[in-house]
Amino acid sequence: MLTNEKVIKLLQEQVNAEFYSAYLYLSFANWLEVEGLPGFANFYKIQAKEEQFHGELFMDYLHAHGILVDLPAIDAPDFKVKDIESILREGLKHEQHVTALIHNIYKEALAVHDFRTTEMLNWFVKEQLEEEVVAQELIDKFMLLKDSGNGIYIMDQELASREWEEPEFSIVD
Ligand SMILES: [Fe+2]
Ligand SMILES: [Fe+2]
Repeated sequence: MLTNEKVIKLLQEQVNAEFYSAYLYLSFANWLEVEGLPGFANFYKIQAKEEQFHGELFMDYLHAHGILVDLPAIDAPDFKVKDIESILREGLKHEQHVTALIHNIYKEALAVHDFRTTEMLNWFVKEQLEEEVVAQELIDKFMLLKDSGNGIYIMDQELASREWEEPEFSIVD
């Protein structure tokens, strides 16, 4: 049973937020590709796939309760790229924002003793920690390498090797 209107509304909004994240990361990849950084672009294209997967998980969760998902328009990415560093920092900032969204749903679900939703969200709570750690590591590495002659090239080569793997999580096995 999923009956609390506020929790349902937040879950509905999270579907859109995850697809927005995908769109934001595609906007990063878009700029990076044109700037001749296919490895960085590859990294964010895979990030976008992950975000789409997250959005589909929230859809699956609502569907498992027979709830029709709202699919309002996805906003245009609200970010003007300046350089690589601005992208990496925006990536971390955005993940911190998404963490706050997830925690807020968790808080509301807990308040109404909706333990099924908190249980489902546990995966996302952990996932957000990972997302923030990865985003911070990218910044740290970039700051170390950016001033060395071929540092950005080396980092781009490394990021080119990232491959998409569907995360091991599903709403109903
Ligand atoms: Fe996500
Ligand atoms: Fe994310």
